Amino acid sequence: MEAVIKDIAEMQRTAERLRNQGRRIGVVPTMGCLHQGHLKLLEVARKHADVVITSIFVNPTQFGPTEDFTRYPRDLGRDTQLASAAGTDYVFAPETESMYPPGYHTYIEVERLTEMLEGKSRPGHFRGVTTVVGKIFSITKPAVAVFGQKDAQQVAVVRQMIRDMNFDIELVVCPIVREPDGLAMSSRNVYLSKEQRSQAPVLYMSIARAEDLIRSGERSCEKVIDRMKTLIATNSSGVVDYISIADSTTLEELNECRGSLLISLAVRFGTTRLIDNATITI
Ligand code: PAF
Repeated sequence: MEAVIKDIAEMQRTAERLRNQGRRIGVVPTMGCLHQGHLKLLEVARKHADVVITSIFVNPTQFGPTEDFTRYPRDLGRDTQLASAAGTDYVFAPETESMYPPGYHTYIEVERLTEMLEGKSRPGHFRGVTTVVGKIFSITKPAVAVFGQKDAQQVAVVRQMIRDMNFDIELVVCPIVREPDGLAMSSRNVYLSKEQRSQAPVLYMSIARAEDLIRSGERSCEKVIDRMKTLIATNSSGVVDYISIADSTTLEELNECRGSLLISLAVRFGTTRLIDNATITI
């Protein structure tokens, strides 16, 4: 690996130099606490770019006041090692005070797509995400940016922002990486107690059940969602935040299971909130 860069101006100068050398920069924005899912994003970035920048920044503006910003796991040493071993050339790890200095007043806000699902449960979340991702784009000057499908709505929102703000950046999306028992990899899985961890695959199980029902002819979204709720209630102590079957492009909720569907859900285990999703076409 070349370097860990904390200074914004230095990252910009480095990115400019790389671009002038004709190198194609790929960026993988992360909040650290890297797991196999992130390492997959880095692997894919390597295939699409000549030089890979991994940003590691726990972004305060995307956390709600009662969310886990302060306890979010941070270990730059470990993350740098993992990122380096997975083919990162530069780690960009700015300080909060340099990303949001006193007097900071500018935000990027995508409308509509941010009003439902995660946006409804976590007001202001996507405003924080698009703002920081926009900043990371303007600092790292990438030709390609790699995101994970685990955060399906985030992908849709970032895609809309790239289009609307004319960012000259190719968006590459990687499939969800799962544990052997189906649980989607997430930095938040470390919060789960042993018992919660054993129940957490219920998100994936409920999606698999929904897919089965829809593929065998069920067309009522309400009925499918009811079956998912029952499965979760029967097999876990998880509390459903939302379950949605929506159009995968507009994210509008559907009555009838037809077209390209995004099945998504959020479930709380104690104070830990897990999400999962799948896209299927009928
Ligand atoms: O997906 C995440 O980890 C974050 O939302 C992102 C894209 C790094 C922005 O802080």
